[in-house]
Amino acid sequence: MTGERIQKVLSHAGVASRREAERLLAAGRIRVNGRVVREPGTRVGPEDRIQVDGRTVARDQEPRYLLMYKPRGCVTTLADPEGRPTVMAHLPATGPRVFPVGRLDYDTEGLLLFTNDGDLAQALMRPRHGVPKVYQAKVNGCPDAATLDRLRRPFRLDGRPSRPALVEVLHQRRHAVLQITLCEGRRNQVREICRRVGHPVMRLRRVAYGPLRDPALRPGQVRPLSPDEIEALRRAAGAPPVEAAS
Ligand code: URA
Repeated sequence: MTGERIQKVLSHAGVASRREAERLLAAGRIRVNGRVVREPGTRVGPEDRIQVDGRTVARDQEPRYLLMYKPRGCVTTLADPEGRPTVMAHLPATGPRVFPVGRLDYDTEGLLLFTNDGDLAQALMRPRHGVPKVYQAKVNGCPDAATLDRLRRPFRLDGRPSRPALVEVLHQRRHAVLQITLCEGRRNQVREICRRVGHPVMRLRRVAYGPLRDPALRPGQVRPLSPDEIEALRRAAGAPPVEAAS
């Protein structure tokens, strides 16, 4: 069989993660040489013209890495069927297209990485690499020591146990602010585990993604990663260094 799977090509071109590409395919938004394709296994070669929403996909683009402080009140997807604002509105209008690595939910704010480097994105999202993500969660009330211990232990989420979390209390008065470090990216994990122990999240932000931190970045701001940050991310993802990767 010749060519590569279309999801892989789209991910390499920085158009969408492989999962997002499957959604685009299912929605009939992708054409190959003018014909709509919906089959995720479709194979394409370098000579094939791929279009997403009528725009031709440029392949072999310069790699690009951006860090955004995602504001609350927007979804982490390329387009929202419900018409809600998306993170894409905050990205620069020019330059190679990038897509988000993982997601933050609608009401969650904080650091979100964007890239068109499909290999690094896949490596970062592979559960076994366990890139740590640090969240600060303001929760309703103040969990006692036994509850904090429960939060640290695995939970059964979507039928599978989660990995243990690191949980610290940053401060507390009427409500507590917890720092929660997770090494996996399960859907709404922080909100779900806090809800289960009886202290629902009132406000949630991500303050670190692997080696990336930036307390100066304000909601809606975006900046390119420095070469050192890119190297640190590659190390965190277990990806080969740039020289060996090209
Ligand atoms: N956990 C959540 O509950 N929401 C997020 O956006 C990220 C982690």
